[in-house]
Amino acid sequence: MDTNAFRYCTYGLVILGASQDGKINGMVNNTFIQVTNTPSRVTVALTKSGLTHDMILDMGHFAASILTDAAPFSVFQHFGFQSGRDSRKFENIPHALDAQGMPYLVENVCARFSCAVERSIDLGTHTLFVARVADAAVLSASSAPMSYAVYQTQVKPQSKPQSKGFSCDLCGYVLHADSVPADFVCPICGHDASHFVPLGAGK
Ligand SMILES: Cc1cc2nc3c(=O)[nH]c(=O)nc-3n(C[C@H](O)[C@H](O)[C@H](O)COP(=O)(O)O)c2cc1C
Repeated sequence: MDTNAFRYCTYGLVILGASQDGKINGMVNNTFIQVTNTPSRVTVALTKSGLTHDMILDMGHFAASILTDAAPFSVFQHFGFQSGRDSRKFENIPHALDAQGMPYLVENVCARFSCAVERSIDLGTHTLFVARVADAAVLSASSAPMSYAVYQTQVKPQSKPQSKGFSCDLCGYVLHADSVPADFVCPICGHDASHFVPLGAGK
């Protein structure tokens, strides 16, 4: 299988926000899509290792903030390269809470959705959530959404070709090593060794 083919899929980038026991948290995700319209339903896949995953599984609600193409790399670093298990990600980040208390961003966001989980499907490393959209709002009608391709080519700092190692073609995590062990799993996004490309070779 040529995993380069996945680079031609069109994905958008969102911040998923969740809340449990008085703590709010969020993470970067590129799997948020509408799958039905009567009623409106979305699906989203999250790696089981994340805190947002556990919160959504337990509480059954999440908010999705659709990032604009002006969102800086710092947003991706902040919400995508660290876990809420070790940090309070929404501290000092402008945000609001929806009717269920789920946090969404109010800057660099085109639109927001409030979602209620109807079904969760165990996919091994990830859980696929099927959720009904309870509410939605446009926050910036004139902004274009951030695509995964724009993130990869224009937002994420490009790896230097002379550096030794491999990077995850999904999230950009860098493994400094001569080779990628066959059973290696990305500690950031949970994808397997087939997603690792030599530094400088990825998008
Ligand atoms: C560009 C980008 C896309 C990502 N897409 C996903 C995704 O679709 N699913 C997922 O589980 N993690 C994805 N991640 C990784 C999570 O955002 C990351 O594991 C995060 O630290 C989890 O935080 P949490 O433990 O606070 O929930 C992505 C990260 C980046 C930078």
